[in-house]
Amino acid sequence: MAGPGKEHLYKVLVIGDLGVGKTSIIRRYVHHTFSHNYRATIGVDFALKVLRWEADETVRLQLWDIAGQERFGNMTRVYYREATGAMIVCDVTRPSTFEAVLRWKEDLDSKLTSGDGRGVATVLLVNKCEQGRKLANGGLKIEQFCREHGFAGIFETSAKDNVNIDEAANFLVKQIMAREHTFQRRIAASDSITAQLDPKRHQPNGCGCLK
Ligand code: GTP
Ligand code: MG
Repeated sequence: MAGPGKEHLYKVLVIGDLGVGKTSIIRRYVHHTFSHNYRATIGVDFALKVLRWEADETVRLQLWDIAGQERFGNMTRVYYREATGAMIVCDVTRPSTFEAVLRWKEDLDSKLTSGDGRGVATVLLVNKCEQGRKLANGGLKIEQFCREHGFAGIFETSAKDNVNIDEAANFLVKQIMAREHTFQRRIAASDSITAQLDPKRHQPNGCGCLK
């Protein structure tokens, strides 16, 4: 019989301006449906996506669908707490929603840092891409934009046609896991440095750590 396996639970924020498609992306991802009707989210909604990651590894993504109308208000601080990743969403047909992306990112970084003091893993989703329009950002290089603004990656998505949503989510999970591992490695490394520096720990009858 297979063992209990490994379980991960990650809290992922989905933020961005009103009507960019946050709820639609989550519905597509979790429930495999899409609707043209728009009903603004009030406050925050939740959804859970369970991923079979490896044969014996399960990832549970707790998705926090935060209303665009919260617009960097005081409540976002409460919603952001303990998150391990974020998707910031804009609408390819409305450039103002792309400009708002950096304000959402700043809001996130100012209210939330991960255990090692960096911002949490974040991807940018440029949604409604089946509309074919490109954002009017001229010669903007994607890698440069990601580096400058601390995004792990950018994806053109469509909740309507189911484009790139699974890919973006899997990429984000990998980023979250990679940060988790670096953080754990750093703790392990600083432990061994402490052990080297602390002479008591080298004595056979010291604290007993080095038996
Ligand atoms: P708030 O809850 O107000 O913050 O908005 P939201 O970001 O959750 O947007 P929502 O998912 O409610 O979508 C807004 C509108 O955009 C709806 O009418 C959706 O049907 C439409 N929409 C969402 N995703 C897509 C897409 O990929 N393509 C197209 N064409 N329309 C989309
Ligand atoms: Mg919504």
